[in-house]
Amino acid sequence: MDEQVSAAVRLQGISKRFPGVVANDDIDLMVESGEIHAICGENGAGKSTLMKILYGMQPPDEGRIEVLGEERAFSSPKDAIDVGIGMVHQHFMLADNLTVLENVILGAEPPKGPMIDFAAARSRLEELGEAYGLELDFDDMVEALEVGERQRIEIIKILYRGARILILDEPTAVLVPQEVEELFRNMAELKAEGHTIIFIDHKLDEVLAVADTITVLRQGRSVATVKPQDVTAQDLAELMVGSELPTPETREVTITDRVAVEVENVSAVDEVGVVRLRNVSFEVHCGEIVGVAGVEGNGQAELVEVILGIAPATEGSIRLHGDDVTGWSVRRRREAGLGYIPEDRHRRGLLLPAPVWENSILGHQTRPPFLRSRLWIDEEASKAHAADVVERFDVRTPGVNTQMHALSGGNQQKLVVGREMATRSNPLIAAHPTRGIDVGSQAAVWEDLRRARADGLGVLLLSADLEELIGLSDTLLVMLRGEIVARLDPSRITLRELGAYMTGAAA
Ligand SMILES: Nc1ncnc2c1ncn2[C@@H]1O[C@H](COP(=O)(O)OP(=O)(O)OP(=O)(O)O)[C@@H](O)[C@H]1O
Ligand SMILES: [Mg+2]
Repeated sequence: MDEQVSAAVRLQGISKRFPGVVANDDIDLMVESGEIHAICGENGAGKSTLMKILYGMQPPDEGRIEVLGEERAFSSPKDAIDVGIGMVHQHFMLADNLTVLENVILGAEPPKGPMIDFAAARSRLEELGEAYGLELDFDDMVEALEVGERQRIEIIKILYRGARILILDEPTAVLVPQEVEELFRNMAELKAEGHTIIFIDHKLDEVLAVADTITVLRQGRSVATVKPQDVTAQDLAELMVGSELPTPETREVTITDRVAVEVENVSAVDEVGVVRLRNVSFEVHCGEIVGVAGVEGNGQAELVEVILGIAPATEGSIRLHGDDVTGWSVRRRREAGLGYIPEDRHRRGLLLPAPVWENSILGHQTRPPFLRSRLWIDEEASKAHAADVVERFDVRTPGVNTQMHALSGGNQQKLVVGREMATRSNPLIAAHPTRGIDVGSQAAVWEDLRRARADGLGVLLLSADLEELIGLSDTLLVMLRGEIVARLDPSRITLRELGAYMTGAAA
């Protein structure tokens, strides 16, 4: 078989320019049939753009696309789907108010006269689910599902449409370690069945473990294509950003006796009356980072909601700098200094159609210096602030007037982190602050958190990245089934021990 035929995808000379940026600059990419091919690179390197071009979402300005030996010109994803390409996006695109079944068949419903043949769709999906070990209950409403399950739906959805070449944009960013393992098993399964997988990932150890081939992009150019056995994570990082891998290790103690947040005997139930938090108590002092470890769905999200005031506590109290804020609104708590880096930046952290400068004050717009009078935002002061955040947190954008949705995923995240740090909020609830951020920027965020801590910031850090938790926290809490089941000294715990506490295997 010659090389031409064995290539699933061959991109040649792909270029794509946006106002003020060259997202893809003359990129060549060869993906062999049946391989798992990883794409790595800094935030804004052009990874998602290149994949959107291959998926027909955006036309390239220049370049050729060849799929299974045939040249193609896609004018929409439908054209790409027709030749067997499917893509799961960096930010999922499911309809919350529909069931899993409805979401999967949306737009590709099997007809039964004028009706939809749900029975046929269901049995086909059950086959797919079984074949690839993708377990799902097809009648669940999507809004009730965890991210791992949402991702399985997205994957089944593209398989249902006949995808043989799967593009996964940062599939592991939103998953906890157990789910990552499961995804990798699914990927191996798909590969064994002859599928080709292209995936984007910032976690270099993961890339080295699962990829057959790795392509590194840097500032819109393809700088290397390597085999995992020939490189280390350090080599990859250097190819990506030209810098060394960060280490989160820090043991400098800056804890003061001022309490920033106090959570006392807090319990909470969800809409249907199920207990989500049970008798949770802890303090975060100024100058302290308290980490919260736990498998997703064990009360961490509810804890954040109760502290922010989005959800009520059924028992117990919350104090900020000594004031009992249990009955306060979200806005009043924010005005009292509470900062928040949300887990889901699209749902809670950003207004995508608005410009960068407006996003840089979002949630703080009711406070000086951003307010000129009771109703008017001080645009000039806000823009100056935005420029400062962009500069200090290395947000790659053509300017502060650029619309937020034009920024790459990681740069959107950096803006949220920068905003909450720069507005000098205290305490700060940081939920997965480095999710989707490249290794270089991750080191910068860690450094920022440490510096702010030394200045007296109290941080409640939630993260699925256990090394981040162990490396940054002064105190580590473990949550299981809505309770705090362990208080650990991060300087004396190993990853393995922490994992045992999280799953309840250690007491
Ligand atoms: N629709 C758009 N309009 C304007 N600029 C865009 C658009 N989409 C992407 N860009 C710009 O193109 C560049 C590459 O973005 P892309 O999303 O491909 O990066 P990425 O490598 O996927 O980064 P990340 O790791 O942060 O997801 C960035 O500078 C981004 O701001
Ligand atoms: Mg991206």
